[in-house]
Amino acid sequence: MISLNPILLLLISVFLFIFFLFKFVTAYGDFTLMSKKQPKREEIEDKVVWITGASRGIGEILAKQLASLGAKLIISARNEDDLIRVRTQLKGKHAPDGVKVLPLDLSSGEDSLRQAVEKAESFFPDSGVDYMIHNAAHERPKTSVLDVTEEGLKATFDVNVPGTITLTRLLAPFMLRGGRGHFVVMSSAAGKTPAPGSAVYSASKYALNGYFHSLRSELCRKGIQVTVVCPGPIETSNNAGSNVPSERRVSSEKCAELTIIAATHGLKEVWISNQPVLVVMYLVQYMPTIGYWLMDKVGQNRVEAAANKGSTYSLSLLLGKKKAA
Ligand SMILES: NC(=O)c1ccc[n+]([C@@H]2O[C@H](COP(=O)([O-])OP(=O)(O)OC[C@H]3O[C@@H](n4cnc5c(N)ncnc54)[C@H](OP(=O)(O)O)[C@@H]3O)[C@@H](O)[C@H]2O)c1
Repeated sequence: MISLNPILLLLISVFLFIFFLFKFVTAYGDFTLMSKKQPKREEIEDKVVWITGASRGIGEILAKQLASLGAKLIISARNEDDLIRVRTQLKGKHAPDGVKVLPLDLSSGEDSLRQAVEKAESFFPDSGVDYMIHNAAHERPKTSVLDVTEEGLKATFDVNVPGTITLTRLLAPFMLRGGRGHFVVMSSAAGKTPAPGSAVYSASKYALNGYFHSLRSELCRKGIQVTVVCPGPIETSNNAGSNVPSERRVSSEKCAELTIIAATHGLKEVWISNQPVLVVMYLVQYMPTIGYWLMDKVGQNRVEAAANKGSTYSLSLLLGKKKAA
């Protein structure tokens, strides 16, 4: 029998602890996602992928990466000119010529969304839509919960919740007829943890998480898959350069790449974020008493930091007021 020297055992344990601590501190996603290195190209090539919110930000980058992996794309948002601009930049087996531009407004109601679904299905009648990437969202500047207006509440919810759910409800029967379909939902870290200053946005993302995990549990045996993606702060064309230098945002390229990895590996939920948001997500999920205690320390400071255009992700929010940048 091999007997291990206790000192050697201790050294190995310390080494492993430091190794995993380093991995965790430098991670930009949850452990399962980090273990998957590459997208599965065969799950994307020649598949029909419909992306909402593809006119800018993460959606635009998703369109570029999916086009280069050989997807047949349908790109949607409200502004048709922006979509046409995006289409001209796409390169791939079916891009730019095979890319379909389908303008839509998620808050326009069931009749108009039904027409959009029928049109999307008619673009590729042989296969129908394989992946629906629900990426579009409405987000307002951060404000205190006390300053939320009814108009702001409706504007956020109409797009993020009823609009997204209605589109899903109308598309799912087509997918069920074909025996397969995959919804990829751009949720947020704000759909997993409190988001002081963004309570309504957070509520809309929690709602999406609940809806899509329930949908999967009802329909997975009929070939429907769901991947819920929860990014923390992401660097996009909207916030590049204009934000606080101390904020460590994951690039939209990395966020899009990890989203495609998650979807093609069939992961059910993934988190994409640098620290400290990632550790807060783990705490709220697995040690809620500590996680919520921590967020209570941050809450008011974060609203004040947002009002002063300071960092809303800094560790210093734990300690006191963040000065304006
Ligand atoms: N950026 C981040 O730090 C971050 C972090 C966590 C989660 N997320 C999530 O990731 C997704 C993409 O974020 P992003 O920052 O890239 O967004 P973004 O730059 O603000 O782009 C939003 C997209 O949604 C479209 N859109 C907005 N309202 C719409 C409506 N009523 N109907 C149809 N399309 C509409 C916009 O195009 P039109 O204006 O032309 O319609 C645009 O293409 C969102 O779901 C967001 O909540 C982002």
